[in-house]
Amino acid sequence: MMPYFMNMANKIRIDKYLGEMEIGTRSEVKKMIQNRRVCINEETITNPGYKLTPNEDTVFVDGHEITYQKYVYYMFYKPAGCVSANVDNVHKTVMEYLSDAPGKNLSVIGRLDLDTEGLMLISNDGEFSHSLLSPKKHVSKEYYAIIKGKVDETDCKAFEQGIDIGEDKPCKSAVLNILKSDKQSEVLITITEGKFHQVKRMVAALGKEVIYLKRMKMGRYQLDENLNPGEYRTFTKEEINDVERYKRGII
Ligand code: URA
Repeated sequence: MMPYFMNMANKIRIDKYLGEMEIGTRSEVKKMIQNRRVCINEETITNPGYKLTPNEDTVFVDGHEITYQKYVYYMFYKPAGCVSANVDNVHKTVMEYLSDAPGKNLSVIGRLDLDTEGLMLISNDGEFSHSLLSPKKHVSKEYYAIIKGKVDETDCKAFEQGIDIGEDKPCKSAVLNILKSDKQSEVLITITEGKFHQVKRMVAALGKEVIYLKRMKMGRYQLDENLNPGEYRTFTKEEINDVERYKRGII
């Protein structure tokens, strides 16, 4: 996994640093330190309480550099039949697909229905998750959908005006972009909310039915076409830069 660095001004203990980087349990890393296997910059240290500044000081274990990464970020191509919830007795969960992905306390950013495929983001950075999911942020989500029957300009207008799906207020204005209108139509739908089954309910409110749904984009994050269903990868450097911009509210 490529190490990408967060700006960490605060000092932390070396045993905590190595524990967070999953080098070993707190007691294992304590032994490593006492056995003189850990160097900070040029100096071998023997005190597990030694404090360092991540990404300013350089840490080595047995001569291998251990870079600090406070948070981890993954892009996952959710296949149909995989559940977004953390636990399920019947279906494989997103987190089971990521069981070998380094990082503690990972969680899925937003949900997709069992039969929906496509882009899911996973991280342990709660602030990033909030910046994408908060209803106040209006982060756009783009879906590719196959709809039973024809779609036309009237449907596009209804999306633009805000469809009533039986909640207190109609949905916010959304975009229906028709790729093909036929017995089975293909469309791109962009929404800026995250109501339960929202896309399927919007289409159903127009008397039509979604028969296939795949999330293509979430904000600036686009499903990587090199991923196959069930595969994940870490964020690229550009995607990490966007994390910081989302968190600072400048996207
Ligand atoms: N809208 C839906 O109806 N289902 C999803 O999984 C996502 C958005």
